[in-house]
Order: sequence, then C-alpha cells, then structure tokens
Amino acid sequence: MCGIVGYFGKDTKVLDTLVNGLKRLEYRGYDSAGIAIVAKDGQVFSKKAIGKIVELEKELEKSDISKFDKVGIAHTRWATHGSPTLDNCHPHFSQDKKIWLVHNGIIENYKQLKKELESKGVQFSSDTDTEVIAHLVQSFYNGDLKKAVQKTLTKLEGAYAIVVVSADEPGRLVAAKKGSPLVLGVSENEYVLASDVSAIISQTRNVIYFEDGELVDIKDGKYTITNFKDAPLKKKIEVIDWDDEAATKGGHEHFLIKEIMEQAKTMEDSCRGRIVSKSGNVRFGGLNTVKDKIARMERVVILGIGTSYYSAKLAELYFEDIAGIPAKAEMTPEFRYKNPYIDEKTWVIAVSQSGETADSVAAIKEAQNRGALVTGIINTVGSTISRITEAGVYNHIGPEISVASTKAFTSQSIILLMHAVMLGRMRGLSLRRAKAILEEIENMPKLAEETLKQNSNIEKLAEKYHKKNNLIYIGRNYNYPVALEGALKVKEIGYVHAEGLSGGELKHGFIALIDENMPTIAVVPQDSIYEKMISNIEEIKARSGIVIAVATDGDKEVADLCDDVIYTPKMKEEIAPIINTIPLQLFAYHVARLRGLDVDKPRNLAKSVTVE
Ligand code: M6R
Repeated sequence: MCGIVGYFGKDTKVLDTLVNGLKRLEYRGYDSAGIAIVAKDGQVFSKKAIGKIVELEKELEKSDISKFDKVGIAHTRWATHGSPTLDNCHPHFSQDKKIWLVHNGIIENYKQLKKELESKGVQFSSDTDTEVIAHLVQSFYNGDLKKAVQKTLTKLEGAYAIVVVSADEPGRLVAAKKGSPLVLGVSENEYVLASDVSAIISQTRNVIYFEDGELVDIKDGKYTITNFKDAPLKKKIEVIDWDDEAATKGGHEHFLIKEIMEQAKTMEDSCRGRIVSKSGNVRFGGLNTVKDKIARMERVVILGIGTSYYSAKLAELYFEDIAGIPAKAEMTPEFRYKNPYIDEKTWVIAVSQSGETADSVAAIKEAQNRGALVTGIINTVGSTISRITEAGVYNHIGPEISVASTKAFTSQSIILLMHAVMLGRMRGLSLRRAKAILEEIENMPKLAEETLKQNSNIEKLAEKYHKKNNLIYIGRNYNYPVALEGALKVKEIGYVHAEGLSGGELKHGFIALIDENMPTIAVVPQDSIYEKMISNIEEIKARSGIVIAVATDGDKEVADLCDDVIYTPKMKEEIAPIINTIPLQLFAYHVARLRGLDVDKPRNLAKSVTVE
C-alpha cells in the first residue's frame, strides 16, 4: 500500500504540494509519514512522524525545513516490513545521506540484497525492504542519478513505484514503476508524481499513467520517459474528469458520510446513458469489442475481495436468476491457490474500486492464463486492473476516499445487475422482465433518496446499540450478501465483532450465541422468502434475542415482532438488496462515530491493498 508523492516546480509550492498530496493519499496507509526536500545547494531537509499526516504537520511547524525549493518527495506508510517507527519511516536514504527515496510496494529479494550490501560494509538504519534501494543507488552512483537507478532496477525483484532524488543533483527526480501504481501530473514547469490522481488534481488534470517497466526522469524542468533499458517512450497525456470538489468532504464531517449520502447521485451516474429502455437492453461502450465473445460464454465467474466480493456474491445470484447461466463469485486471495474451473468459455468479471488490489490483479492474470475473457468493473480510471483487462466498464462515481467502501458497492451491484440483464437478453431473457428491471434501476436514485431520509432514525438506533460488542446480521437469497456487507462495515469501522449469515444458517450452530446481549440485524423485505425470514426472526425472539429489522415501509407484522425497525421503500426483489445496504452503512457509520473512532481511517487498514 503506502502513498508516494514527488514534486518538481515552484520554489514556494514544494512543501504545500507534498503535504496536501500526502493528505489525499492518506487512505493508502497512515502508520507514519515523512518528507524530504532537496535545496539548491544540495542540502536535504527531512522530517518524519509516527501516525497520521497531522503528526507530520506538527513536526514541520516546529522545524526549520526549507519551504522554498523546487524538489521534494514524501510518503505515507502502511507497514509491511518493520513496525511503524521513525527509523522505518520513509524517505529512506543511503549511508552518505545523498540518495533519498520513497517506495510503494515490496522488494521480495531484499534479504539477499541486504546481506550482500552488509558484506560490503553498508550499515542499515531501518528494518524495511526499501532501504536496500537507497544503498544500491548510492553504490551505482557516478554523477548521473538516472543511470544509477536503472542499474539498481536490474537487481530488484518484487513490486515497486519509487521516486528518487540526489543531493548531488538538486532539481532532478527519477521515478520508476513495476507492479505498483504511478502517475505523473503535468502542468507548466511543474510536475507531480503520485500513487494516484487524487494527489494531483488540485494541481492539474493532465496526467500520464505509467506502465510496468517505465521510468521518468525530471531534469532541467523537463521530463523524459523511457523503459528501464533507456529506450525513449512517447506517452499520451490524459485529461481526468474528476474535479477537486469530488475529492473533498463537501461540508460533511467525514468522507464516509459524504460518500453514503451521495449515493442517489452515484447510482444515477453509474447508469447514465447505459439503459436502452425501449429494447429492454443495456449499452456498455467499454464492452463493445467483446460483446460477441460474451454471447458465446458458458459460465460467469465474478472476482473480488472485501466489499467487491460481496457485490460479486450478489451478482452470482443475478446471473443465475436473470441470465440463466452458471455463475460463481470467487474471492481473489484464494483464487490462484486452487485449481479454478476456468477456460476460454468462461467470462470473468473483475470487480475492484481501486483497480489496484494485488490479490485481484494476481487472480486476473491466473484467469487470463487459463484462457478466460476477463473484463473489469473499476472505479479508478487508468488503474492497473483497468489496463490489464481486455475490456471493461467504469463506475463513474468519483473518487471513494473513506477506507470503508460504500458508494462503490451500490454502484458495482447496479452495474453487475445490468451485466446480467445484458447477458440475459442474449440468452432469452424476456423483454418484459428486462424492461421491468431496467425501469426499477432507473428509479433507484429516488429509492436511495427516500432511504437516506432514515439517517436520523438510524442515528437514534446507533445511540441505543453502539456499546454492543457483538452483532449478527441475517438475510436470505438476494439479501444474504447484504448481511455480509453490513457485518463487514461495522467490523471495519466500528471494531464491533459481527457475523453475516444467511437466516437459514442460524439454527445450524450460530443460534447458540443468541441471548439478550447479542442483537441481530435482520434484512427482511416483503419478498419471495419473507415468511422464511419471519420464522428465523421468531427463532431468535424465542431465545430472548434482540432484533433490529430492515423491512418494507409500513410492515406492521415485522414492527410488532422486532425490537426496532428501519423502513426502506417497497421495491422489486432484484433492487432491494442494493437499497437495503444503505441503512446498514449508516448504522455502521453512526456506531463508529459514537464509539469515538476514526471513521475514515480505521486502524490497521488501508484503502487499496497493493500487497498480497
Ligand atoms: O479496491 P477494491 O475494491 O479491490 O478493494 C477490495 C477490498 O480491499 C475493499 O473492498 C475492502 O474490503 C474495504 N475496506 C471494504 O470496505
């Protein structure tokens, strides 16, 4: 994980650009942060702090760090090798303190490299894998930073995006990428290198996405891009359509609540221009080139992890029910360690908000090696997964900053439902059913708005229950993945132990946990499996359990049976799980807030998990 930033530009902007860039990338890791600025006379000013960026800012206020130079690098860390101490904090430096660098990724052969360097007398000052890079660059340095970096890269195995500076060449930055993301923001006499565009958009919307094996040298105010062997490359400058506003809190206390509250809009954005009501069909421009192949597929596998896996679980049901095709959701960290049934007749859909999740990247490669057609559903434009898949669809919901995924889940689920309708129409789905589903999808922003009005009621429920340390979530059929996702949300941001279960699974063991201290949140809309869910709730009530229901507006039976109710509008069975997730997101948000936790940056987590 980790976030890296590099800046070349105006004397007065270096410090602010680096710190603001780090703040935007803080979701990638926040165990410690550091900065180094190379002054024109070759002095290097560096500051580091344990914890979040705000701690680094406090250190910077106290320090005599040069605020007026052209070049600097910065890093926010999610620890992999070495605990979050000052010594392990980036930027790391060579023994002569002339080479400084920031790194995102893992150097897999660092132990062997460290041994070799130590045998030559190099002393290490951290426990990190990264430090070997600094010493290697120093060992190869002969007045040309780019050459030294190129030689170093031939020694490294693993994944990296690095930005390197040298005290002997102030005004120069060299960056390289293999396996970890790197983007260059380009404006007049100013360049920002970063792990993703959110750290760049306040400066410029013109960006260059790097591929593995590419290196950029910023020198004398110009940049040149080559491959690792120095062959020059011409790269296209792309214009990103997110604005700065989209990446800020927009008046809310936390990114999470902002992102939950904007779901009516993001649902609309996910569908815009994609529904062809008249013919009961769906149009995804990004899938045009593979549509014929899709029509010939015999099974569907949906890949994801975490929240993206739960939208995949929902899609598994959509594909079987609506498109009448065998479908399976697969958890990406497990996928390539088994022998998955994948071949050239399998349509694999990779779902990822960040498009950078290492487990998912590896699973996609595995599926591609087995001959599958792999397409993506990705939010982050230009991300690794969007580039390695054969075709795909973007969510178009703007950046999701809070570590807990919310608007990405609802968007992914809608887009997956639309995929199922599209495939269904190729496989005999009736015009009537297709139209009915698509009409309801178009109505979803309204349904979401209605549901979001429950916010203050849900806040009251959170006040009542936020001290409970254990919760059970149940749902059935389409609402089973909702129970899984609801439990994940309260675990990751509220640090509440929660189990997501199918209602029918309860009596096979879990019901032993039920007593007056173990509340159950039951997702029980009036659908085809309503009576079964009512029986499951009865079973809990018979054992003195507390039940909070998410039920269809006006359902008296559920209100009488349960301790508390959150109502959502009456909707079609296929749509209900997507809308029913919203109250569970709000509940987790208020629980975490009332427990006094850092809602946007929960402990031990990072937004995009770019290590396996
Ligand atoms: O970026 P991705 O969708 O690939 O991320 C996958 C998971 O890491 C992510 O969904 C994670 O589980 C979130 N913290 C859930 O809120």
